[in-house]
Amino acid sequence: MEIVICPTAEDAGEVAAARVAQVATQKGGPAVLGVATGSSPLALYRSLAARVQRGDLDLSGASAFALDEYVGLPASDPQSYASIINETVTVPLGLDPARVHVPQGSAQDLRQACEDYEAAIKAAGGVDVQILGIGSNGHIGFNEPTSSLASRTRIKTLNEQTRRDNARFFPTLDDVPRHCLTQGLGTIMDARAVVLVAQGEGKADAVAGLIEGPVSAMCPGSVLQLHRTVTVVIDEAAASTLTLRDYYAHTYAHKPAWQRFAD
Ligand code: GLP
Repeated sequence: MEIVICPTAEDAGEVAAARVAQVATQKGGPAVLGVATGSSPLALYRSLAARVQRGDLDLSGASAFALDEYVGLPASDPQSYASIINETVTVPLGLDPARVHVPQGSAQDLRQACEDYEAAIKAAGGVDVQILGIGSNGHIGFNEPTSSLASRTRIKTLNEQTRRDNARFFPTLDDVPRHCLTQGLGTIMDARAVVLVAQGEGKADAVAGLIEGPVSAMCPGSVLQLHRTVTVVIDEAAASTLTLRDYYAHTYAHKPAWQRFAD
């Protein structure tokens, strides 16, 4: 796990975008991006969009798979993850909407929708680089604590902390959906590279669990300790409870450029 601690969230977005761009470019063909909703990756997306606009990064032909979707919100609802991915990823990065996939949270047959989603990722050749945030309870995607570390795309019940965290986007807490479809932890682990971003003190405990905690379903993000190509880019506040914080900063500062973002 490569850990990069940045002075600000905007800096973290730049570094994380550089890593995503590196993987996409190294592929030498259309990349398959795994994309996340939430506020955490917004600076990363802004930086990627700037790279595309400058002509430094070519994502024409790239495809994308979102992590999750609420059950019961039509794709046209502004709070659906289909809408949010369209606004924050598809349009700014100039991706072809036909190549951007979001789990079908309004499907008649939700189980079939989950199986179809897994099949679509496989048919695209798998995810080259998965962008992740982390929930304050350690969830990635919507894999809440106690999710199977081997789980695949499925229906999940959102826990109350997640519903409260996301209530700011809905008129009242009661309007926050109770169920979702989410890629499983096993699905996420299949990505060839992972870039996780987190900012703010509210994420410090989740980040500590992710990086330094035991691998445990109680902190679903901790499963990434078993992935061989993870880059975690955080700001100072999100790093504030890390025991080995100085060590990570020292290690990164003294790495030769060619060794950064190790494979
Ligand atoms: C959301 C999403 C996650 C996201 C997390 C954190 O509910 N399902 O993919 O990483 O919660 O959100 P934020 O980045 O807004 O803090």
